[in-house]
Amino acid sequence: MKKIQISPSILSADFSQLGKEIKRLEEAGADFIHVDVMDGHFVPNLTIGPPVIKALKKNCSIKFDVHLMISPVHEFIEAYAEAGADIITIHPEATEDLSASILKIKKLKKKVGVSLNPETKVNVIKDYLSQIDLVLIMSVNPGFGGQKFMPKVLDKVKELKDIQKNHNLNFDIEIDGGINFENSKLVIEAGANILVSGTTIFKSNNGNIKKNIDLLKSS
Ligand code: DX5
Ligand code: ZN
Repeated sequence: MKKIQISPSILSADFSQLGKEIKRLEEAGADFIHVDVMDGHFVPNLTIGPPVIKALKKNCSIKFDVHLMISPVHEFIEAYAEAGADIITIHPEATEDLSASILKIKKLKKKVGVSLNPETKVNVIKDYLSQIDLVLIMSVNPGFGGQKFMPKVLDKVKELKDIQKNHNLNFDIEIDGGINFENSKLVIEAGANILVSGTTIFKSNNGNIKKNIDLLKSS
C-alpha cells in the first residue's frame, strides 16, 4: 500500500501571507502544496495564476500540486510548468484533446494529473490511465472551498483501485473536497493515497495545522 500523503489547499490560507503560510505547511509536514487555479469560466470563481505561483515557489522546496480549473487549458500548460508546478492536473472537459494535453505535460517533464468531477465517469480516462501519474477525484463540485463531501464518489475511487490492481498500474489516487476527520478513513479505505484539504487543515483545532495534518495522515 502507498503511504498516505497530505496536500493542503492554500485556498483556505491567509492570502495576505501566502509565502509564510506555505512555510508553515512545509514545517508542519505537508507533502505537497495544493494550488487551486480558477478562471471564472470553467468554474464560477477566480483565484491565482502563474506569476503568483512563480513567486511562491521561489522561496520553498516543497512540491506544488497545481489543480487547473481553467478552460481551454491546453495553451496555458506551459506557463504553469514554467511557474514551478510539479504536478499539473487538468480536467478532461477543459481540453479538446486530452491525449495531446497529457503529452504536453509529459514533454515538460511534469507529473500528469487528470481530475474527475463528481459527475464524470472513470470511463472518460480509462484509455489514458497508463500515461497518467495521478487521478484527482473531486468530492465536491469544483469552485469553492468549504463544501460538503459527496460520499457517492467513493465508488469511483474503488473502481480506479480495481483497475490499478488488474492492470498493474501505479498512478496516485488523490481526493479533493470536503475532506475531514470523519471521512478521511473512508476515502483511504476506498483506495485514495493523497488527501487534499483546505478547511480542515486551516480551521480545525484552532488552526493547529501540524495537528490537523498528522490526524489526517494517521486516519
Ligand atoms: C475546490 C478545490 C478544493 C477545495 C478544498 O474547487 O479544488 O481544493 O478548495 O477545500 P476544502 O477542503 O475546504 O473542501
Ligand atoms: Zn483542488
